[in-house]
Amino acid sequence: MRRLDPARSVSDEDIRRVLEAATKAPSGGNRQPVRWIVVTDPELRSQLGEVYQRCAAKLMEGDEDSPLTRSSWYLIEHFGEAPVLIVACTEGENRRPASVLPAVQNLMLAARGLGLGTTLTTSHLEDEVAVKRILGIPENVETYCIIPMGYPLGRWGEAPRKPVEEVAYRDRWNNPASFVYKSRKTPGKWAAFVYKRVQNPSSGY
Ligand SMILES: Cc1cc2nc3c(=O)[nH]c(=O)nc-3n(C[C@H](O)[C@H](O)[C@H](O)COP(=O)(O)O)c2cc1C
Repeated sequence: MRRLDPARSVSDEDIRRVLEAATKAPSGGNRQPVRWIVVTDPELRSQLGEVYQRCAAKLMEGDEDSPLTRSSWYLIEHFGEAPVLIVACTEGENRRPASVLPAVQNLMLAARGLGLGTTLTTSHLEDEVAVKRILGIPENVETYCIIPMGYPLGRWGEAPRKPVEEVAYRDRWNNPASFVYKSRKTPGKWAAFVYKRVQNPSSGY
């Protein structure tokens, strides 16, 4: 969700809740390498917005007009207005994205459960040095993504994705996977169940 309401701030309680969901993610050897910088200061957000705009606009150059590019351009123009920008980092030798991205996904799912929109963005990596300068991030720290977060503006439907049958094989590469449903539980209901649990962890996993 790239269209976020700049006028509606996110409570510290909700920011902490999404970060807590992130901390529950798996990581190699349970080393839990991710460090999060939660940027709410308007001046810093605006500076990050300028870096993002420069980097992402360069990456988008020449892309054809489509709903996705229109939404991406919207974010390019409004990145710094997102109420919260969350930067995922690791320090030192912990440089395995596979130990970072599950936590990022947890954070994004928890946010959605709270009615908060997010986007995983990496365009700033075109000029990571500038981001580090703005946030006082030392050289031995790597940034992976910046996640704008806030309340959505406008329509917020289900993301367009390929059907499972198109992306899953059974037993062998390219062998179609067909699934027999024994219950009436749909995948949609399962997703809703997970969101509910993330939103209300005390109800038990
Ligand atoms: C590794 C990665 C990097 C991404 N970087 C950006 C980005 O810099 N800017 C952006 O607007 N979206 C970025 N995205 C989001 C994807 O563009 C988005 O998930 C995809 O277009 C589908 O859009 P939807 O999730 O809104 O349906 C990134 C996603 C991933 C997984």
